[in-house]
Amino acid sequence: MSDGFVARSLDEIRFWSRIMKEHSLFIKLGLRCEDTQLINEAQQFFYIFEQIETKSHELTLNTDPGQMAQFNAEVYNAVSYIWAYKRKLLGLILHCKLAGANLFPLLIDHTSREANYFRNRLSQLNQGQLEPLPDAIIDENVFFLRIMADHAKFISHLLDPSERKLVDQAQDFSRDFDQLLFQAVDLDSMRPQSQTHPLLSQFLDQNRVSVKALRDFKKTARDLIEACRIKSIIHPLLADHVFREAERFLEIIDMFEMALAGKPSASKH
Ligand SMILES: [Fe+2]
Ligand SMILES: [Fe+2]
Repeated sequence: MSDGFVARSLDEIRFWSRIMKEHSLFIKLGLRCEDTQLINEAQQFFYIFEQIETKSHELTLNTDPGQMAQFNAEVYNAVSYIWAYKRKLLGLILHCKLAGANLFPLLIDHTSREANYFRNRLSQLNQGQLEPLPDAIIDENVFFLRIMADHAKFISHLLDPSERKLVDQAQDFSRDFDQLLFQAVDLDSMRPQSQTHPLLSQFLDQNRVSVKALRDFKKTARDLIEACRIKSIIHPLLADHVFREAERFLEIIDMFEMALAGKPSASKH
């Protein structure tokens, strides 16, 4: 096991188990009251990830790496189950079996992509196979830029239509991130020739500017929603949830910049 295995595992599990727990709540709230079986399943996942989150905060950096690997494997299983549940839901929605439920197909697909990301991180950690830096930079950005583009779309669709200025702003972010995502996909297909230091560094710089702006917009939206100052059907916890995911992306960008510059950092990769 490499250095930092326990620290990296705990960091991923603490962040993503809370996210999975909240997805269970959002899904439960979006289902119709007659969908009792699906609601029970969502409730079960809420408890499972709440327990995982609690345990991850009880474990310390002195945890035995073997015990950590065992816990990672347990969490991997739980994440596989919630991923399958989300894909099942997506199938039901797309086959019009949940007519009237307040769950966008893209939202369910999005949460399943986050589960898949978490699951991959756990298996990479346990197998000791983290990607080389230039590959990680492109892959993480392709993943997170799409996540950010989705968030902007969710916000614009869940704000009350009468909040015209905010809806406009959210749509601007959606377009901005769609473009950044396509740029990242282009850099991806130009691999490995595109993986030069100046290109990767510029890529991170450009993405950071937009992620910071979106992060600030989400923070403002969250504060306004919490204070009941704007009209929307956005749960305050959902507003905070997407804000935290933007913060996570920013931390990853910063960590990559430090690694590119050859500076020591609290590397997660
Ligand atoms: Fe999420
Ligand atoms: Fe998300």
